[in-house]
Amino acid sequence: MKKLFVLAAFALLAVGTNAQVYQNPNAPIEVRIQDALSRMTVHEKVNLLHGQSKFTSAGVPRLGIRQLNMDDGPHGVREELEWNAWNAAHWTNDSIVAFPSLTCLAATWNRDLATLYGHSVSEEFAYRGKDLMLGPGVNIQRTPLNGRAFEYMGEDPYLAGEMVVPFIQAVQKNGVGCCLKHFVLNDQETDRFSVNVNVSERAMREIYLYPFEQAVKRARVWSIMGSYNLWQNVHCCHNDALLNGILKKEWQWDGTLVSDWGGTHNTMQAALGGLDIEMGTDGDGVTPANEFGYEDFYLADKFEKLVKEGKVPMSVLDEKASRVLRLIFRTGMNPKKVIGNLCSEEHYDACRQIGEEGIVLLKNAPVGKKKESSLLPLNLTKYKTILVVGENATRSLTKGGGSSELKTLKDVSPLEGLQAKANGVNILYAQGYDSGRALYDNVDKVELSKNEQLKAEAIEKARQADLIIFVGGLNKNHKQDCENGDRESYDLSYGQNELIAQLAQIQKNIVVVTFGGNPYAMPWIQQVPALVHCWYLGSEAGNALAGILTGEVNPSGKLPVTFAKNYEDYPYVKFGKEAYPGVNRQVYYKEDLFVGYRGFEKDKVQPLFPFGFGLSYTTFKYGKPTVSQEGKDWVLTVDITNNGKCEGKETVQLYVGNEKYATSKKEITRPAKELKDFVKLSLKPGETKQAVFRINANSLRIWDETAHGWKTESGNYKLYIGSSSADIKEVASLKI
Ligand code: BGC
Repeated sequence: MKKLFVLAAFALLAVGTNAQVYQNPNAPIEVRIQDALSRMTVHEKVNLLHGQSKFTSAGVPRLGIRQLNMDDGPHGVREELEWNAWNAAHWTNDSIVAFPSLTCLAATWNRDLATLYGHSVSEEFAYRGKDLMLGPGVNIQRTPLNGRAFEYMGEDPYLAGEMVVPFIQAVQKNGVGCCLKHFVLNDQETDRFSVNVNVSERAMREIYLYPFEQAVKRARVWSIMGSYNLWQNVHCCHNDALLNGILKKEWQWDGTLVSDWGGTHNTMQAALGGLDIEMGTDGDGVTPANEFGYEDFYLADKFEKLVKEGKVPMSVLDEKASRVLRLIFRTGMNPKKVIGNLCSEEHYDACRQIGEEGIVLLKNAPVGKKKESSLLPLNLTKYKTILVVGENATRSLTKGGGSSELKTLKDVSPLEGLQAKANGVNILYAQGYDSGRALYDNVDKVELSKNEQLKAEAIEKARQADLIIFVGGLNKNHKQDCENGDRESYDLSYGQNELIAQLAQIQKNIVVVTFGGNPYAMPWIQQVPALVHCWYLGSEAGNALAGILTGEVNPSGKLPVTFAKNYEDYPYVKFGKEAYPGVNRQVYYKEDLFVGYRGFEKDKVQPLFPFGFGLSYTTFKYGKPTVSQEGKDWVLTVDITNNGKCEGKETVQLYVGNEKYATSKKEITRPAKELKDFVKLSLKPGETKQAVFRINANSLRIWDETAHGWKTESGNYKLYIGSSSADIKEVASLKI
């Protein structure tokens, strides 16, 4: 009755303007949806539910309801593709800014930069006429072999959740929707279309679902992409228990579930399993491939037939159509959607800033006998001849990688960035190794003899240099950091290990710079004084890197993922192939809650570089913490002082653990400590600021598998304040 009244009121409003209620931007969205639905035929409703091209789904042309324009993110707007094919459309106005990879954003530990990132990239989406950004992604980095880890935000669900919420809020404020990827458990690319993930309820809730839950409850994300893999032996794009049970009912999510491209497999399951828009299907096993069209999608004619025959209730269709209309009104038909802009100075600035704060300084030791001063920052003019070695110093790392590949207007390579700062110093370059650039092939076509020759050239040039900057790491080739294939080894490829070791023998002044979304083995680590890890830095790569190496910017990135000494140290590896990549298309997350640092700590294994670790050119002193209670919250404060010589930023981390688990003599059933808050402070030399953390019983909740719900256990909790997960400076406690 009330609904009717509201509808009538808005109908009256609309009469004056000659517009229909659903077109009235001042009418509440729910009223617009009901009005639009009441005017639509069954066929028009069904038409909303599936692709009409590679990256659009239909609106309702008869009613002037816009189609949904989607495009891949998350690091920038993907170039235009042909309407019906994966080929580039070769437009001349679709070049954009490539922003740093999400792993780099996570490494900034700076929520404000997540806002800046979301704001900037969504302006580019809006300008390109896009309503929906396919991204960001918050799958958990459980294995360092995951080909898509660079698109996600590391191994810790809390960090990922904290970074993704402001990102989504900033994007959606501009009237562009986020389509959060990939719901859920798409944590490996090997067998991604067919692997069924077996995971305990606790790990599912506390680790894998957690960042999605934050995005739904706090950022109210408008759409989510189902993942390719299966859970409980049902594909996640139409998994009733997951999508209807948890996402839509339990979390009360009102958004639109979009399938991953080709992730839909069955009409009845798609109808009843919580899918709203089917995208990218390229066959149904019945229709001949050359005749297969959009009307053959599972949620197209086949679905319409079921509805018309009464085999699927009309309410199911109406519900799906409402969710799609909601997304259209929130984005394409949102009067507040911005016009946006492309490649602005502000966007390049944002890109550089995020890159600078995400780069992690992993090692910085003095060279030779000069105990007092570390090799970095570099005064480039001090050197006569500098040799830059490595393919990543010149190749574009925005190309390749799969769906996140970007076509950029301009990129500054690491070599160009260093040249710009070198002030006339002679900079030599040697490629050193060749990756074959096998972007989409199944094998890296590396010619070994060619690599031997490139190595010899680099070594020859190294003898002339008094500083070497090696720029290598992973890249976006298939089976490196790339979709639809995991890495085959924890080692760097193409002979980089041997090359670095040999260069380090020739010249002690050597800085190793690596790119990549994943950790990797460093057998040469003792031989090199300085090491910097850059993830992927996007269009401003060279400028961001040069700023850090020369000390114009003080590094402040911290690892969002543990770097192990050996591959075998990762917590799941000891459980064999069943735990990764699976046997007979079943993978068992046997390490359970003990992903990343949680597992290293349990197994008492020292990582090479722990989660949360990152150096600075200055040093920080931690004061004594105090804990007080404010209503239901505990407030913990600690003074942090910059006691070094230059301005810098420190991310102070709060980990919490229930004492009974840390001291348990029996089998350890819960992590000793988990990240619960962090604060990034900017401090001038000599300056002191307070880091303030706030936690409550809800932050300490754990999943109870017997009651199938959350609970907070009573007992003594330890609060660990540290500069990384392994460098705990102070401990406080509280009792619940
Ligand atoms: C990827 C998605 C992507 C889609 C469209 C799929 O293969 O898994 O992340 O958005 O393709 O390009």
